[in-house]
Amino acid sequence: MTRITRRDFTVLAAAALLARPTFAQTNAAAPITRAIPGTGERVPAVGLGTASVFDSDDDQTQRAAAQVIRTLVDAGGRLIDTASSYGDAESVLGNVIAAAGSRDKVFIATKLEEPDAAELKRSLARLKTAKLDLLQLHNVREPQQSLAQFKGWKAQGLCRYIGITSTSHHAFAAVEAVLGHEKPDFVQIDYSLDDREAEKRILPLAGEVKAGVLTALPFGRGRLFRAVRGKAIPDWAKDFAGSWAQFFLKYLLADERVTTVIPGTSNPAHMADNLGAMRGRLPDPDQRKRMVDFIGNL
Ligand SMILES: NC(=O)c1ccc[n+]([C@@H]2O[C@H](COP(=O)([O-])OP(=O)(O)OC[C@H]3O[C@@H](n4cnc5c(N)ncnc54)[C@H](OP(=O)(O)O)[C@@H]3O)[C@@H](O)[C@H]2O)c1
Repeated sequence: MTRITRRDFTVLAAAALLARPTFAQTNAAAPITRAIPGTGERVPAVGLGTASVFDSDDDQTQRAAAQVIRTLVDAGGRLIDTASSYGDAESVLGNVIAAAGSRDKVFIATKLEEPDAAELKRSLARLKTAKLDLLQLHNVREPQQSLAQFKGWKAQGLCRYIGITSTSHHAFAAVEAVLGHEKPDFVQIDYSLDDREAEKRILPLAGEVKAGVLTALPFGRGRLFRAVRGKAIPDWAKDFAGSWAQFFLKYLLADERVTTVIPGTSNPAHMADNLGAMRGRLPDPDQRKRMVDFIGNL
């Protein structure tokens, strides 16, 4: 039997320490992906939201959108969330994606205000695609709302998945009811470190009905950045978060029920920063609790 001397032990311990990945090293690891509960298809855990940022279809917006989407795709991201009601955003995305020939590299989620065939036709035309990845009913309000029309379109091959959305807590009872009777493939809900109502009400039910979860407003429309302005990331968070954006997004991603976070930005540097949240370690339950306390005490 080989004997390990005190000196061997010291050398081995030092080697083990050196082998421990630093934040920068874990950052280079494969991106975090999540399985869509209904099918098992894996999607990257950080995507892009497009409310307000690509509202007008002009050259400057198209240039910004092209850079943001290139940054997303090059870093292994895929999911882009838009809506028929986000100004010209669908047209901007459609033009940029067609010009880059990247339709098969992105997962397009859009939303309709109503189950209206004319509205769907317009979204497909603006997005320059024959088939959406995800079609969502925007802002569910009534408990009895039906997804029958959306299910029909899915059966016809016009979309691969269907979903519902809301960012209004007054509508959570309606969201719960529709999740229960329609069992959509996805629910998109407001969820951020300082807005955790969805954690108690929507995420458990999403798990039961096997709906994927997209987190709208992961920064509370920028509210979280304003709350920490001028403050440094606490030392205990530095081995999993290289920026405040990653701190906020990793809180959400540490909940395995979250499929993809969809922070909004028209800034490629912010997109790259946000994409860093799907690399490296996620906070453990104790660290998550500490994150909640930290934000609550600001
Ligand atoms: N009912 C619904 O279905 C519903 C409602 C609301 C939102 N949504 C979806 O959720 C998405 C996200 O919501 P949102 O865009 O309104 O709010 P958000 O993602 O919570 O916050 C966006 C704000 O954060 C800033 N930001 C982004 N990345 C940053 C970074 N790395 N560092 C510093 N600042 C950063 C953005 O500014 P910059 O542009 O300067 O980066 C912007 O001011 C929407 O785009 C939309 O797709 C859905």
